[in-house]
Amino acid sequence: MSVLRLYAVGMKLLLYQLIHRPFISPVLPDQHGKVAIVTGGSRGIGYEIVKRLINLGMHVIIASHDEHQGLVVMERLHKECAEAHVDFEFVDLASQSSVRDFVRRFKERKLPLHLLINNGGVMLVPEQKSDDGLELHFSINYLSHFLLTRLLLDSLVHSGTEECSRVISICSSAHYVSDRNLQDFHRTQDYCPHASYARSKLAQLLFTYRLHQELRSGGYAVTVNAVDPGMVDTQLYRYMSFPEKLVLKPVAWLLFRTPAQAADTVLYAAASQDFEGVSSCYVHEGKPVKSSPASYDAELQDELWRNTCRMLRLPVSINK
Ligand SMILES: NC(=O)c1ccc[n+]([C@@H]2O[C@H](COP(=O)([O-])OP(=O)(O)OC[C@H]3O[C@@H](n4cnc5c(N)ncnc54)[C@H](OP(=O)(O)O)[C@@H]3O)[C@@H](O)[C@H]2O)c1
Repeated sequence: MSVLRLYAVGMKLLLYQLIHRPFISPVLPDQHGKVAIVTGGSRGIGYEIVKRLINLGMHVIIASHDEHQGLVVMERLHKECAEAHVDFEFVDLASQSSVRDFVRRFKERKLPLHLLINNGGVMLVPEQKSDDGLELHFSINYLSHFLLTRLLLDSLVHSGTEECSRVISICSSAHYVSDRNLQDFHRTQDYCPHASYARSKLAQLLFTYRLHQELRSGGYAVTVNAVDPGMVDTQLYRYMSFPEKLVLKPVAWLLFRTPAQAADTVLYAAASQDFEGVSSCYVHEGKPVKSSPASYDAELQDELWRNTCRMLRLPVSINK
């Protein structure tokens, strides 16, 4: 059932992409002196985001787990732009201790943090557990980004002075088909990777909206938004079955956005003046759009927030 619903959402999106031209971001302001962290920044959409941020003058930290790919990418970026201010830092988003370790190393550097892009992710992975024994989509796409954001909030708050610091999570229209059963992530019977991916993206969105409430009530100069990049031709689809891939290849070539086109919307939300002070939006093709009714359910947001804090041994309030 989840499979069919997910494919229906995909078809609708492809139709949209057939009819509409990709969003093109206006010229963005210079970002010299600012620091960004991009998870999963060494390939796909993340890589294009990193490239664009560097060109705007930002110091970018790529947080990924493939160290070889990280080195290849760093070399390429330095070749393309001699002044590129970019570092690679290892983080395995399937491990809470790796995320904590990444944050500890970042804080030792005493750098400011103006932008956090929660981009790293996996899709349709066969049933697998993270280092912490949790379902992999839940762990990589949602839980680690929750932990990362919470542990980096003090740096973001501290750096949000003249302008707000920004948190952007790369979500997906897959969230529209997620059920509300977020307690059911770790079930082993009838495991469905499609349902798991959709739930992880709904969880990311519930987190975005709930975090906004916390930040607003604390009066912090940090905004938090979610971006839907559309359907993009990347390695995210590598876990699809062989027949699915055969069908997908020509469709992707014809109708998918390129990673560079997807990065345009992300950059617009991450760096444009139009998004200064704008928070709690679900952005698609440069515009805030409505996300699923479940994502606005305050009770569901609260329940997930509290359960996640308990799971990660974090205080419920961000002020503690
Ligand atoms: N492509 C689409 O059509 C589409 C649509 C909607 C939403 N999105 C979202 O866009 C984001 C980026 O996806 P993409 O399409 O660019 O896919 P991708 O090319 O497969 O890139 C995924 C990135 O996530 C990183 N990653 C995966 N597992 C990790 C782990 N355990 N620890 C650290 N990093 C890990 C990878 O790092 P390594 O390079 O180190 O392996 C890679 O850089 C994802 O959140 C995805 O859900 C994509």
